[in-house]
Amino acid sequence: GNSRASSTRLMVNGSETPLGSGVSDLSDLGVDWRLNATLVTMIRKDILRFLDAERDVSVLKSSFKPGDTYHYVLDRRRTFNVSQTLYSLLPEVSPLKNKTFRTCAVVGNSGSLLKSGCGKEIDKHDFVIRCNLAPLEDFADDVGLRSDFTTMNPSVIPRVYGGLRDEAERGKLIRRLQQLNSSVLWIPAFMVKSGERHVETVNLLVLKHGLKVRMAYPALRFIHAVRGFWLTNKIKIKRPSSGLLMYTMATRFCDEIHLYGFWPFPKDTDGNPVKYHYYDTLKYRYFSSAGPHRMPLEFRTLKTLHNKGALKLKTSKCT
Ligand code: CTP
Repeated sequence: GNSRASSTRLMVNGSETPLGSGVSDLSDLGVDWRLNATLVTMIRKDILRFLDAERDVSVLKSSFKPGDTYHYVLDRRRTFNVSQTLYSLLPEVSPLKNKTFRTCAVVGNSGSLLKSGCGKEIDKHDFVIRCNLAPLEDFADDVGLRSDFTTMNPSVIPRVYGGLRDEAERGKLIRRLQQLNSSVLWIPAFMVKSGERHVETVNLLVLKHGLKVRMAYPALRFIHAVRGFWLTNKIKIKRPSSGLLMYTMATRFCDEIHLYGFWPFPKDTDGNPVKYHYYDTLKYRYFSSAGPHRMPLEFRTLKTLHNKGALKLKTSKCT
């Protein structure tokens, strides 16, 4: 059947870990890489059977009413109410309605970006997607400055902005949100209850300071749809990482997708240490299959797709 056909395309050696466990075979194909437009179209169609990204990229005003109650997506026993604040920020139409781009960059947060010199190349793409409000200015040579679409897990608020306890932390977040100008800020707000108050605080700040940023909150079905697609390709990922979510979403709008900053390994191919994030001191946590993410498995999958010309995984320097 169909699912068998699509799984063949993503698998190598018929195993769940397509490229084995070593990192030695993960170096760039560099100049030999060529886009496989036929495969891009096939993957887009396959994903569309699970995820309508144009629709599901955000809940719209027409889909929620203030006071409505829903279950959290990953925390089914707990519920949330649609607040006035949230409702007032919901878009009227999909922020990606009728969008198509020739080339897109999905920028992950790996320390492999440091000294990559990839900033200019990243900024040249027609659409640039970034994750978790990662800082740009101090790293512009390596990561670029352009952002059209930025994700933000609610956990970023306690982790990076000190839970917005004081004015200094609030100021730092406001400045970061101002940098987004009128691009899209995408907050997976309906995953777990623990993010509720952080989402509400960010929403209130956006309103209070009249920020131009365009808010988006993925539909409740978004993550199930993404997981479903990868599952039929035998990639068992309970919680797809932000980077994988963004690649999956981007297939709908982008002909050529280039991934930067995807390197979930503490060493590079020469054995030199690689930071987990290019901008902080977080440590590698996601190596066990019991962890929330399975970035190494995701990476091997993306590498397979790179080798087939479905996407370009840039792991080497740009200069
Ligand atoms: N990433 C990577 N290698 C790393 C760090 C990140 O490939 N060493 C990619 C992953 O695809 C990740 C994305 O870059 O999803 C953004 O990084 P991060 O902000 O850490 O990702 P999240 O998936 O949102 O992680 P968390 O749930 O911990 O917030």
